[in-house]
Formats: sequence, C-alpha cells, structure tokens
Amino acid sequence: MHTLKLTNSKQDIQTAGKLLKDGELVAIPTETVYGLAADALNGEAVANIFKAKGRPMDNPLIVHIADLSQVDDLVAFVPPVLEDLAKAFWPGPLTVILEKSELIPDEVSAGLDTVAIRMPSHPVARAIIKAAGTPLAAPSANTSGMPSPTTAAHVMHDMDGRIAAVVDGGPCEVGVESTVLTLCTRVPRILRPGRVTPEDLFDVLGDVEVDDAVLGQLAQGAVAASPGMKYKHYSPKAEVYIVDGSAEGFAKLVNEKDPATTAALVFDGEESLVECRTLPFGAEDDSLGQAEHLFDDLRKADELGVTDIFVRCPSAEGVGLAVMNRLLRAAEFRIIEVD
Ligand code: TXA
Ligand code: MG
Repeated sequence: MHTLKLTNSKQDIQTAGKLLKDGELVAIPTETVYGLAADALNGEAVANIFKAKGRPMDNPLIVHIADLSQVDDLVAFVPPVLEDLAKAFWPGPLTVILEKSELIPDEVSAGLDTVAIRMPSHPVARAIIKAAGTPLAAPSANTSGMPSPTTAAHVMHDMDGRIAAVVDGGPCEVGVESTVLTLCTRVPRILRPGRVTPEDLFDVLGDVEVDDAVLGQLAQGAVAASPGMKYKHYSPKAEVYIVDGSAEGFAKLVNEKDPATTAALVFDGEESLVECRTLPFGAEDDSLGQAEHLFDDLRKADELGVTDIFVRCPSAEGVGLAVMNRLLRAAEFRIIEVD
C-alpha cells in the first residue's frame, strides 16, 4: 500500500475525511501525539488499526469526537459530572471512560463494557472528524511498544506502507498522550496521567484518585484497570535507565560507560558534563517542556544506534507525573540511585 502524505489544506482534510468514511486508516495530528484513526463505528476498519500497529486485541481504543452532542449515542448514560469536566477540559487532552452504548463495536472496547472518549483541541483533528462525519477511534500512531509519534515523520517511520494516509499538522504541542480518567469507579480515578494533572481534576471534581499502576509496576497476575498499562511501552530499541540523583552523580556514572554505545538524556544546560552524546529534553524545572520532547528524544537516541540510554530522573509533580509514568515504562522500571 502506498501511504499518501497529506497537508492540513482544506482539500487534503476533505480527502482524509473521505478515506476514513470509506473504512481506511489515516494518521492524524492531535495536540498530544499523532493518532491512527478509523471510523469508530466500523468494526472492520477498527480491526485494521490493531493489525497496522501490531497491537494486542485486548487493549481498547479512544473514540475522538468534535462536538459534545456526539457523546450521547456512544455511552449508556451521561453522568452529570461529565458536563463539568467538558466545560473545564474539552476540547483538550482529557479522555473519559464511561459505560458504552450498543453502537460501540467490540473491536473499539476490546470486550469491556466501557468506552474511552476524548474531544481533541487540535484544529486539524477537529476538522478531520467533522469531514469524516463520524467519531474516530484512534490509538497513538506508533508501532505497538515504540515511543508515541509527535511528528508526521515519526508516523511515516513506523507506518509507511501500512496505512492509507498521514496528515501532517506539524509537531505536537503536548508531546505525551491524554490523561485517562475513569468515571466508572466510586471516586473518579486517573488511569494514565497527562497534561491535565491530578490537581487540575481535583479542582473540578473535589475528589480524584491516582491508580497504583501510574507509578508502580503491576503485580504479576493482577488485572489492569486500563489494559494498556500492562504492556511494555514507549520503548526505543536501546535499553533505558532512569538515574536518580545530582547532575554530577549522573555524569560520574555515565562517563564510565563506552561513549560509542551510550546516549544521555539530560536537562538543558547539562550537556557539557557528559562525554557521550547528549540529548537535552527540557529544563530541570520545566515538566511541560520535558513532556513535549521526551518521545522525540527517545527516538533520536535510537537513531544514534546506541545500546544504552541513561536519563536524568524528572520531577513527578504536576505534568511531571506523566513524564515519569512514560519514562518508567520505557525503562521497564529500572532506576539507578546515585549521589
Ligand atoms: O492523547 C491520546 O490519548 C492519544 C491521541 C491519539 O488521542 N491516543 C492514545 O491512545 O494515546 P492509546 O490507544 O495509545 O492509549 C489509550 C489508553 C490505553 O492505555 C488503553 O488501555 C486505555 O487508554 N483505554 C482505552 N479504553 C479504555 C477503557 N474502556 N477502559 C480502560 N482503559 C481504556
Ligand atoms: Mg499508545
């Protein structure tokens, strides 16, 4: 299959919409990461997403809408709190889990009786949903297990020849996937952290929990509230290690490694401390900047052809919780303590 490269022109957006309506797969930009979209109400088209990504069939997808009125048909009932959440965070990087309606194909919900819904804020994503005239199921547009794509070039690297088209909307602003919040527990619970922080949600909900799996490792045999959390994730080919401690302690550890096979993800301004190749991923106190650059840097480190990537341990406060959550999975929970 030849993968069409589309721009964000009106005409190309119409083309993308038509392809989607016809049951094809199209990668689309969103404010978080690029999504691999299909008509959410077409089970056959959605099944092809899993094939293109090599995604396990038991990991459900997020349904993307452009207008709040689209929610009604997709869910069994709309809890009153959804209105407050929508007012505060939609359109934007928040996904909400609700009880699903019969319209949702099993391929989307992976056999669960719930569905994940999000209204993206990216103008191109919204225009494509409208052009398709249907809600779009879309996971991140990476090969399963790889870092999520934050540029159209990342998408092409993973998906060229496997999907009908990719729409280039420029680099993604947020850089990590949406916050996933379930409203199906007694107290609303964050299953995956993102740009919308626990503090942001607390302000609207008055009460919110963070699932243990966000920073912890799922115990063997335990059932994941969000199936995506049980898989190795966001991993480049090289082994990733988080190093917790001072910049000097980090440099001492990394400078003992072979610079030919080692790369370091450092905070801005620390490049000169380290002898191997460095990729700055944001200032130490800038979680937003770190979120924006993390996946791109992990992919870049892989392109250097190194076998080991050492990463300065970020703060897990605010949006930092999302950065740490992704990094822990990329590193398979390996943390090295230094002075
Ligand atoms: O920012 C995002 O959310 C991006 C863009 C494209 O919108 N999408 C994205 O999709 O990250 P994906 O499939 O890579 O991640 C969806 C996560 C997975 O961890 C999945 O297990 C969880 O949401 N999820 C989806 N439906 C669920 C459900 N019904 N119950 C629990 N977890 C669910
Ligand atoms: Mg993903």
